[in-house]
Amino acid sequence: MNKTAGPVTRGTLMGAVEHALRAPSVHNTQPWRWRLDGGTVELHADRTRHLIGTDPDQRDLVLSCGAALHHLRAALAGVGVATIVERRPDPESSDLLAVVRPAAGPPDEREAALASAIAARRTDRRALAHPPESAEMRRLAEYATRHGAALYPVTGSVNRARLTAVLGEAATRQRFAEGYPAELAIWTRRYAGARDGIPADLRTHAAAAHGLRAFPPGRLPAPPPPRSPEERDALVILTTPADDTENQLRAGEATSAVLLAATNLGLSSTPLSQAVEIERTRQQLAHALPGLRGCPQLVIRLGHPAAGAAALPATPRRPLSWVLLPPRERAR
Ligand SMILES: Cc1cc2nc3c(=O)[nH]c(=O)nc-3n(C[C@H](O)[C@H](O)[C@H](O)COP(=O)(O)O)c2cc1C
Repeated sequence: MNKTAGPVTRGTLMGAVEHALRAPSVHNTQPWRWRLDGGTVELHADRTRHLIGTDPDQRDLVLSCGAALHHLRAALAGVGVATIVERRPDPESSDLLAVVRPAAGPPDEREAALASAIAARRTDRRALAHPPESAEMRRLAEYATRHGAALYPVTGSVNRARLTAVLGEAATRQRFAEGYPAELAIWTRRYAGARDGIPADLRTHAAAAHGLRAFPPGRLPAPPPPRSPEERDALVILTTPADDTENQLRAGEATSAVLLAATNLGLSSTPLSQAVEIERTRQQLAHALPGLRGCPQLVIRLGHPAAGAAALPATPRRPLSWVLLPPRERAR
């Protein structure tokens, strides 16, 4: 039901952009800028926040923006506003990634249902208790498909071991990649009061295990895993049919939809991007697993949280006023 009588106000659009700021982003860099212009919302890439050593292809940057684009549309759907989106509308501006416009009619109910998960979703790097049920996995796969991507669940210990080996190789290569260790340090040791980066409260105090990115130790407990990894969580690979910027943007939208739907199902999730950041391991991902079709864009870890696991605090975000571009000047 369209709950907004008449035209969608600037306040409604602003409120939705505020929600979009909660989107996940690589190292919590928040590489986006927004412009509200004539009843539309523009999403721009902020390439000053590009992690040159970690993300040489800018895949993570575009995926992060795609996640914010989906958060925006889900937030608008949540207040009864349907939207249409034009991706990469201006061939002259590679930074303008999308323009979103309110559309007539009611929004999609399945998208509206995701709005309430925006505030609750967290990246959880702790040990998990058990993987999603197959019905839950099907629901998540549906959300990926609706956004032009596919979810490939990595099943069986042989495939899991293959994927873990690829993740391990990516981690080893990055340890020696120019700029990677410096970027890891910069985005985990922010200045006091910073509104970006990954605080110690969200990093485990043991070194990363089982293919998770090795951040500098933080304050989260990481109990020793009692059982084999695949009994505790599931790893899925999100793929797209092609690997151009538009597909990477859609991969980010699909990632957002999957993570929000997972949150609604009570699942914890961790995006894992190391294996796609390096050309060689991305190729290995594409070929190491039987039946995987398309271009790998992201690995996602999913599972039910351990019994009694404490709620995680929210990571900080830069306020809207820091990321809002001025309206365009028009000829009188
Ligand atoms: C494209 C992308 C790549 C990411 N890669 C990783 C990763 O490799 N390891 C990890 O622990 N978190 C990863 N994250 C999660 C971010 O660190 C997280 O979204 C950010 O710190 C904000 O925290 P939040 O998700 O709890 O809001 C990634 C997120 C995105 C969107």
